[in-house]
Amino acid sequence: MTYQDLDEKVLEQLRQLSQRYAQTGQDLASNLEGLLYTDYLKYWDYIALDTLMTLQHPRTTFPDEMIFVVYHQITELFFKLIQWEIDQMLNADERLSFAVWHDKMQRINRYMDILVRSSDIMSEGMEYEQFRKFRMALLPASGFQSVQFREIEIKSTHLWELLDKAQRQDRQATGSPEELYPFIYWKRGAIEEETGKKTITLQHFEEKYDAHLQQLARQHAQKNLYALLERRLVHMGNEEQQAIREEYRRFDNRFNVGWRLAHLRAAAKYLMKKKGEAVAATGGTNWTKYLPPRFQKIIFFPSLWTEEEVAKWGTQLID
Ligand code: HEM
Repeated sequence: MTYQDLDEKVLEQLRQLSQRYAQTGQDLASNLEGLLYTDYLKYWDYIALDTLMTLQHPRTTFPDEMIFVVYHQITELFFKLIQWEIDQMLNADERLSFAVWHDKMQRINRYMDILVRSSDIMSEGMEYEQFRKFRMALLPASGFQSVQFREIEIKSTHLWELLDKAQRQDRQATGSPEELYPFIYWKRGAIEEETGKKTITLQHFEEKYDAHLQQLARQHAQKNLYALLERRLVHMGNEEQQAIREEYRRFDNRFNVGWRLAHLRAAAKYLMKKKGEAVAATGGTNWTKYLPPRFQKIIFFPSLWTEEEVAKWGTQLID
């Protein structure tokens, strides 16, 4: 192939590449030579498939435990995607255009929809007898210890909206993140009823993540999805207001009602004895009082809901 055989498009690309390398003091020729020896990219390397397939480690020989492990991992990957979008929105802040903001909220809602709709993989998709046995090998680990779930909560709203319900009204808008953090709802939910002590599940979680979550709470005190909405809403036209409110409401509803109800259904299926008697949960919480969303009524964006909707919060998805 001669120089003349290279079409204008390729020459233009070479020119652009040359400029790009020059900006960092590198030369095009050496980098092109490197390309001669670089292997082609393969699908399995790109997505690290071999590594991914080594990350499932059931603790027992019951086959259905694999479903439990993998579905938790799938959920955590969706949590990662949700945070990926939230972080971009919060970091862009004033530079975030309405179109991108709306699009990213829709993406998050798409992920949440999948998590809510697929939850029957847990509630219906495992053999009851197997579950009751393999869960004993998992004590005291619990999905309660999902740090990504807590990170999404902290990045979504003001810290006072996440306080234990009994404290929420008194503390609204008062107190630094350091003062409010100990009253966050899930810390109250993981207390042994008989002794009033923290469950070991909570102790483990605090040891590993408390410092990180407190730091995150400080960092996101003014930088969360609710704060973003409050700052921007007044500067927006009616149509845009309506559209973004809709996506925020959908997210609140899916995360705090849809997912929580679907998850409760799974817990009830496996942890309820006949005649309404509850089996102790893996994390030691009094889960029948803790998990139903109508008790804690966690709402990320309360100003977007009517009094009537708040009164009924947690009983059903509002659509
Ligand atoms: C059959 C399946 C499941 C059962 C029976 C179950 C059971 C429970 C129970 C009883 C709790 C209360 C804490 C405790 O005492 O352990 C809990 C909390 C939790 N679980 Fe699950 N779980 C299941 C599946 C999942 C999955 C797939 C996830 C995904 C990550 C998950 C995430 C969570 C989270 C985030 C909490 C804390 C919720 C909150 O603080 O409001 N769980 N689960």
